[in-house]
Formats: sequence, C-alpha cells, structure tokens
Amino acid sequence: MSPDALTPAAELMRRLRDGPARTLLDTLPPYDPDEVLRLTSRLRAEGHDTELVAAVLTQSRLRTRAAARLGPLARGLLLTADGLEQATRPAVAARHAARLRAAGVAHVWDLGAGLGLDAVALADAGLAVTAVERDPEVAEAAAANLSAFPRARVVRADVADVPVGPEDGAWLDPARRTPGVADSTGRTRRLFRLDDLSPSWQDVQAVAATAAATGAKLSPGFSASDLPPGAEAEWVSIDGDVVECAVWWGRAVRAPGVSAVVGTSAPDGSSWVTVAPVDDPPPPLAAGAAVMPWLAEPDRAVLAAGLPASLAALVSGQELDPGVGYVAAPEVLDVPWARWYAVEEVLPLHARTVGAWLRARGVGRVTLKKRGVPTRPDRFRADLRLRAGRSAAEATIVLTRVGGTPSALVVRPVGTPGDG
Ligand SMILES: C[S@@+](CC[C@H](N)C(=O)[O-])C[C@H]1O[C@@H](n2cnc3c(N)ncnc32)[C@H](O)[C@@H]1O
Repeated sequence: MSPDALTPAAELMRRLRDGPARTLLDTLPPYDPDEVLRLTSRLRAEGHDTELVAAVLTQSRLRTRAAARLGPLARGLLLTADGLEQATRPAVAARHAARLRAAGVAHVWDLGAGLGLDAVALADAGLAVTAVERDPEVAEAAAANLSAFPRARVVRADVADVPVGPEDGAWLDPARRTPGVADSTGRTRRLFRLDDLSPSWQDVQAVAATAAATGAKLSPGFSASDLPPGAEAEWVSIDGDVVECAVWWGRAVRAPGVSAVVGTSAPDGSSWVTVAPVDDPPPPLAAGAAVMPWLAEPDRAVLAAGLPASLAALVSGQELDPGVGYVAAPEVLDVPWARWYAVEEVLPLHARTVGAWLRARGVGRVTLKKRGVPTRPDRFRADLRLRAGRSAAEATIVLTRVGGTPSALVVRPVGTPGDG
C-alpha cells in the first residue's frame, strides 16, 4: 500500500486487518440481529472501544450477507456494503482469471480492484497481481483480502496513473457512476451507459491498446454495436442470472465477436457451456406460418447475446419473430441452456379473446411471459377477467410476436428428455 494519509474509515479498516481486532472479528458468534445489543454490551464490558465494536459487528453482518453470493470465502473477507454489491462471484472471477492465465501473461493489473474478489481469483490462479484502488477504505479491505498471496499487492492510486506495460495482463471492472433507479415495483433497475463507467470506457480501451491481454466486466446491458473491432464479448449467466458482459482484447481473445456463456453451479465446482453464433442461421417464422408444437426459450445470457438463432439451428426450429427470442421446434431436445413448453393454442393478442378461451376451460390463474410486444402484463391480466376460485386451473401465456403478428400462446412447461 502507498503510505498516503488514511481517512478515519480506512484507519479502522486497517485496524481490522490483523492483531487483536482481527482475532475479535474472527471469533464473533454467527451474526444474529436479535443479539446485537447484548453482544455490544458484552464487548464493551470486555474493554473494547465503541468504534471497534461497531466495526466488527458491521463486518459480521456484511459477512453473513456476503455468504449467499460469495460462498465460504466470505467468512475471511473484510467488506464494505458498496464493495460487496459490486464484488464478482468467485466462480465467475475464476473464469476471468483462467482466461488471462491462458493468454500467457505473468502479471495482471486489476484496475479498480474494489474489495479484490477478481484479484483474489487472479492470484489464486498463480498470477502476480497489482490491484489498483483509489478509495482508501476499500483499498485497505482489498489489502487484507489479498494478504494470503505473496505475489499480490494493492496500490492506492487512480488507474490513469499506473504504468501498464506491453507484456502485462489487465483486468477492469469499472464502477457505475450513476446508481440504479427504482422502477414502479420498487426494484432497483440499473441503467447502463458506457459514459457512466469509472474507470471510463476510454480508459478501458486505452489499457486494452497497451496491455498484452485485457478483460473488462461490463453490464449485461452492453450493446454488441459498441464492441470494438477484433474484441470479443461474452454474456455470462450463472444459475439463470445474467451477471455480466465480459469483453476481451489482445491475447485474451479466442473468437472475435459475441457469444454467451451459461454456467451452472454445483458443490464440486461450476460447469460452463459456450453458445456461439452459427454460420447459416434458420430464418424466423414467416407471416402466416404455422407454429410448431414445441417452444424453446433460451437462457437469458443467450438472449442478451442476441443468439436465439443458435438455438433455432440446434433444434431445427425457427424464432417466432426477429428478436423475440422464443424458438418454435418440431421436437423437444435436451439442451441444457433452454426451457421447453408445449404449445397448446395460438390466439390473437386480445385480452378479451384470450380471457374467453381460458374461462371456457376453467382457467382461473395465469403466469404471463412477455417479450417483443408493448403489452402491460398487469393490465392484460386484469382484462382477462378470470375467476380465481380454489379449483381453478392454471395456464402459462406467452405474449409475443409470431411471424410479425402480436399473439398470445397458451403453453405448458415440460421437462427435457434429460430431466430425472
Ligand atoms: C466494481 S468495483 C470492482 C469490484 C471487484 N472486481 C471485485 O470483484 O471485488 C470498481 C472499483 O473501481 C474503483 N475505481 C473507480 N474508478 C477508479 C479509478 N479511476 N482509479 C482507481 N479505482 C477506481 C471504485 O472505487 C470501485 O471500488
């Protein structure tokens, strides 16, 4: 760490790195919000100062929150609330590290390292790492989190001021300067604009022009039209969540262009499948064409990468309409990155018509799926005028376009041949 003066928050974080404060933190009982007052009184009575007691309890609370996302690693980390929100999951960070290692670099700059989850994976992969972080408190936490790796160091600096060389590898996971905004359901919606990144998109590209191999973690909202020539973009999902678009440059590129990477986690490690574009994709359904009896919905990473045609090619099917993502197919095939539905009826996208069809069959509750049409699902659901009695049947309705026509498909989820 560079020796510049520390902020009070950074001083406190440094205190937690080792010595008696660290021992106190690591020997606390599992975090229980109902026990916080009692535990605070006990620790104060044992002679620990107020600041330290508050700091260890905050760390304990954050470690508990982190466990769901970061797994067992969370138990030994120093965290901040913001840093945790932005931290890369270990299974995904391990992929980044493996890619840079395979690019043949010996040393990697992690530029904007945050709490250091990517840096830990890089160090764990046997690479020498310099983690650069400008926030003093976060940099202290990163230094603690990397302390087990003798070939990793943390520099508190701005990424614009470090000398990345032509033989180095580089990793950038820029923070978003514009925080998410709450949508009408109260959920935080992340707006993604390349102009909002810090380090900036220009900084990222300047590093990529210098280093031997570079990777950057961008939002899944990254647009393929912004991909620089010769670079590679991978939309990555794990267990159904799209977590990032990783962009690669230089020796880290395997196949320029776009792909999707679909991950499934398991206790003995994660498995990954790559979905690439196909050379001669089948055309989407033409206007008026009949819909085949099965519907396949690709994993969200495949949708984000714009590759439903790769699914259509694999299952001898056709996308229902350009860009909607749903693929009609003549039979169900075992594709680990697709969900299947039996198509029971194709109706016009009129709530009254659909409602009458459903009521005639005793359907009282529906699951609505929607892509490619501006319909408001809540409004559509109300307009169906279903009677949700106890014995009412349920149905799944896909609101989308078929051969250019807004349509409502009544579908039934089915397992794939590989399902137990
Ligand atoms: C998204 S976080 C990195 C998370 C990290 N990959 C992880 O998995 O823990 C981005 C970090 O970049 C830092 N940062 C942003 N702009 C920077 C700059 N110009 N120089 C140095 N650090 C910067 C922020 O303070 C933030 O901690």
